[in-house]
Amino acid sequence: MNPPDMPELQQRIDELAPWFHNLHLPDGTGGRVQTCPDHPLGLGDFPAWKFEELSPHLPADLAGLAALDIGCNAGYYAFALAERGARVTAIDHDPRYLAQARLAQESLDPRQRVRFEQADVYDLLHREQAFDVVLFLGVLYHLRYPLLALDAIARRVKPGGTLFLQTLTAPGPDPARSPAIPDDVGLNDRELMTQPHFPRLAFIEHRWAGDPTNWFAFDAAAVEAVLRSCGYEQVERLTDELWRARKPGEAEAPWWDRGTLDRIAGKRG
Ligand SMILES: C[S@@+](CC[C@H](N)C(=O)[O-])C[C@H]1O[C@@H](n2cnc3c(N)ncnc32)[C@H](O)[C@@H]1O
Repeated sequence: MNPPDMPELQQRIDELAPWFHNLHLPDGTGGRVQTCPDHPLGLGDFPAWKFEELSPHLPADLAGLAALDIGCNAGYYAFALAERGARVTAIDHDPRYLAQARLAQESLDPRQRVRFEQADVYDLLHREQAFDVVLFLGVLYHLRYPLLALDAIARRVKPGGTLFLQTLTAPGPDPARSPAIPDDVGLNDRELMTQPHFPRLAFIEHRWAGDPTNWFAFDAAAVEAVLRSCGYEQVERLTDELWRARKPGEAEAPWWDRGTLDRIAGKRG
């Protein structure tokens, strides 16, 4: 498919506004048109700079691997994963963002190596396919049921596979420099829960940054504790708000899942 010509392309970009990803789309004459040059949140050329933080931690060659981008928005990372050779599934629950991704795909991924699908993160409970690499970037704090989503995702990461999670966080001390939390908190030791290093989820009743879809701010200790409890080993903080979590090669269902997730998924009574 040829890239759309410049005036038509700009018009189609405008029709799908507002954009969150600033994609640089070929205009067919050797130039590029940016989809979101003035980011509404003042994020600059987003997510190019955010991808630069992630990029060195992703294998340069993803050929033969299956990748999943959850909350893919207009597809910036999904196209980048396909560029490295992965077979990519990219999901988002918002059809407008997927329409943006499909417009971008005409020029950035004409061979359609990325499969875009409208789906909710919770729909992953009903799926069977597992992935070597999963991106879950900028979505966690938007969720009303964050642990259900993380458990659904953990099921879709292959044994030995990797999850990359990025989230806006609540302030908190660096878990790497904090005292360990004991395996068992005594019934009357609740004072420990008020200590700054105790994992914390702040619940946002109304709005965060003017956005009523922001429900929880995890602090870094909570991100890491929750990832471990989802069954990942090697939970590594790569940057301030970006983590890599590896699933063990021999992954079993976590001890606390006695069929609960299957029942939520309607798989057994
Ligand atoms: C802040 S944007 C992040 C986009 C992209 N992942 C990034 O990091 O640049 C959040 C994205 O997650 C999507 N999203 C929010 N809740 C979702 C859900 N429950 N299931 C699937 N996608 C969701 C939104 O539509 C939006 O595209």
